[in-house]
Amino acid sequence: MTENIHITERVGTGAATPALTRVAIIGATGYSGAELAEILKRHPHVQVTGLFGSEFQMDSLAEAAPEAVFLAVPNEVSAHLAPKLIEAGMRVIDLSGAFRLRDENLYPRWYGFTHESPELLEEAVYGLTEWCNGELKKARLVANPGCYPTSVLLALRPIMYLIDRGQPVICDSKSGVSGAGKKSDLAFSFSELFGNFKAYGVGQHRHEPEIRQGLHLGDRATLVFVPHLLPTVRGILSTIHVGFTRPITPGEMEQIYAASYANAPFVKVLPPGQLPELKNVVNKPHAEIGYQLLQGGRRAVIVSVIDNLLKGAASQAVQNFNRMYGYPETEGLGQ
Ligand SMILES: NC(=O)c1ccc[n+]([C@@H]2O[C@H](COP(=O)([O-])OP(=O)(O)OC[C@H]3O[C@@H](n4cnc5c(N)ncnc54)[C@H](OP(=O)(O)O)[C@@H]3O)[C@@H](O)[C@H]2O)c1
Repeated sequence: MTENIHITERVGTGAATPALTRVAIIGATGYSGAELAEILKRHPHVQVTGLFGSEFQMDSLAEAAPEAVFLAVPNEVSAHLAPKLIEAGMRVIDLSGAFRLRDENLYPRWYGFTHESPELLEEAVYGLTEWCNGELKKARLVANPGCYPTSVLLALRPIMYLIDRGQPVICDSKSGVSGAGKKSDLAFSFSELFGNFKAYGVGQHRHEPEIRQGLHLGDRATLVFVPHLLPTVRGILSTIHVGFTRPITPGEMEQIYAASYANAPFVKVLPPGQLPELKNVVNKPHAEIGYQLLQGGRRAVIVSVIDNLLKGAASQAVQNFNRMYGYPETEGLGQ
């Protein structure tokens, strides 16, 4: 995934073609940064002027003079860098979780640090692209959603108004190992993963408050989020269980999802009773959603699949970039 990236490589630093937007990626040597670099390289309206790894220096970035910077770095690095870049007049699309939560008080517990720039938490646009309206156009800072939250929020947002908040919303999510980034750790080694499958981080995963926030569940409704580690490289499959306040028909579900995603080139909703598989989305920039109604339409199981490195990270970041700069949403994404 990272083989074509040379760290601190600057590409085309000569005179910019006016029609192109100059962009840089910090974290281009990581899994999601490398995917971003691949997409942006073939984007017809982009000039990639800087690709940086952890040896990144502000001076080198200034030399690359990007208008927009993608941050594909650890949370604390983004939290520290983004304010400086914004102050220098750059627009930032942050793939980390550093600006996703509105409430600064959640950062010490879920992210292990005190936020340096709480004022930016209010300003940041949460970039679940299909649920953004005009706000990306003017955004200085976009908080690209987490991979698990992308799979869950795309599936549940359309039907939230039908959900019985007295019953738990259960999100049983499974991710390939690339979700953890390229760091080496015993838990992610071949011999620990191959032929294995396990749940982890129950009640402790930092995507839980992001999902709660994204579903507007408040503090009291029960959200059960159980992440699992799949012995595969990429892809997320979330199996979501909900109860409704009244019986829903398959035709009604079909209409609700169709209305929500009629103009969404990267969300495909399957007909009632058809459930998507991981292989439908691996290496692809779109999400797929399917559902099965149960108990006469009083409950539903919804299955949502994405590629964690694309719709869960890099391709969604480019969708957001396209909207920020007024390019067609599909530009660079092969649709
Ligand atoms: N993996 C996913 O599925 C996924 C999905 C959504 C969001 N994200 C988020 O996206 C971000 C990147 O994730 P990843 O999985 O791509 O990580 P990764 O594979 O571990 O790569 C991390 C990148 O950050 C760079 N880096 C580390 N410390 C740095 C520093 N102090 N200054 C500048 N660059 C630094 C690394 O450079 P070196 O190579 O030089 O060490 C590398 O390019 C994380 O915040 C992650 O939570 C990941």
